[in-house]
Amino acid sequence: MALFIHLASLVLGFGAVLVADYYGLLWMTGRSTLSDTLVGTARLHVPIWTGLAGLIASGVMLHPDMTASLTRTKLALVLILTLNGLQAGLLHRRMAEQASSAPLPRRMLVWGAFTALVSQLCWWGAVVIGFLNSQH
Ligand code: HEM
Repeated sequence: MALFIHLASLVLGFGAVLVADYYGLLWMTGRSTLSDTLVGTARLHVPIWTGLAGLIASGVMLHPDMTASLTRTKLALVLILTLNGLQAGLLHRRMAEQASSAPLPRRMLVWGAFTALVSQLCWWGAVVIGFLNSQH
């Protein structure tokens, strides 16, 4: 049951993260406006945080082996992606304030790219370690 909740939460949370980054990609390639992107990503807030909360709660019920360095690495990645998600909320607010006076400052674009990169690295890293840990 805990594993089912873990995987369902993974689909919900990571799925929504991928959609958010896809919106960012559409905007960066000129296929969407900044305000459309900001409205779209704001709506993903609930599935992303619900999925992450479900992953953490079900992960605890799966009895992680805290002596394994892979598992500790995975938990560090989860901590980083959680903090990264919180600061992404701040970035979202800053971008929304600036949205009318386009183009955005370069500093904000670099901040956005860095946030997306950290998010992708941590989520994929946690998925790969979760998969490796289940192979024994
Ligand atoms: C972003 C967050 C997370 C992701 C993407 C993730 C991903 C995964 C994946 C893909 C699996 C493999 C499932 C399978 O096919 O058997 C897994 C298993 C597992 N996860 Fe997570 N997980 C996350 C967070 C957590 C957290 C926070 C904990 C602990 C508190 C945790 C503990 C576990 C445990 C104990 C297993 C079972 C490993 C085994 O079979 O020995 N996970 N996770």
